[in-house]
Amino acid sequence: MDGNGRWAQARGLPRVAGHRQGAEAVRRAVVACIELGVDYLTIYAFSSENWKRPEREIDDLMGLLGLYLRNEVAELSQRGVRVCFIGDRGRLSTDIRKLIDQAEASTRENKALTLTVALNYGGRQEIVRAARRIAEDAVAGRLGAAAVEEYLFSGYLDTAGVPDPDLVIRTSGEQRLSNFLLWQAAYAELVFLPTLWPDFRKRDLEEAIAEYMKRERRYGASSG
Ligand code: IPE
Ligand code: MG
Repeated sequence: MDGNGRWAQARGLPRVAGHRQGAEAVRRAVVACIELGVDYLTIYAFSSENWKRPEREIDDLMGLLGLYLRNEVAELSQRGVRVCFIGDRGRLSTDIRKLIDQAEASTRENKALTLTVALNYGGRQEIVRAARRIAEDAVAGRLGAAAVEEYLFSGYLDTAGVPDPDLVIRTSGEQRLSNFLLWQAAYAELVFLPTLWPDFRKRDLEEAIAEYMKRERRYGASSG
């Protein structure tokens, strides 16, 4: 989700207005995914690097997140959405952590869509945390070096149990992954849209999926 700030700037509004519209766009994206039969949606809400932003903006983002969780989880649950979070929870406020735990617990059984929210998330940090836990298990004698394979490693990541993404969409014209799902996106199709995130609608998702369907996925094999 990129382009909230530019969306606001283009209208002479404070950045927080863009983030507010960004939250609306998340609501639309969730509904669009359910309608289009997408089973898993992962959104990059706050990166490990976003702490470099001014304190005021961080407070605004965390405030909006709290508001979203307080107001939306019941409706998400009614729609059959299971909500999960990835990222390092250690640096989040106790208030946000409590809301996260509640959202996960109250939607655990839902089946229509798994919505994963990446919060204080960084792909490298996630890989390092997984490696550290593997090392701890090895030192404790629970794991031998030969057991460390791709399959096992994946299970130590925050996304354990969630399939790798088929499609990664970045809005606002930037063409980077910016530390998003580095391990998991190894064979994802990447689609970059010029749309700013607050303007994102079902037709943008349909456009990205149409682009995805034109691609030939070979996973390193030759075509034919
Ligand atoms: C995305 O929009 C907001 C987050 C998910 C934190 P930005 O805030 O990065 O917007 P630009 O890039 O300044 O337009
Ligand atoms: Mg940005």
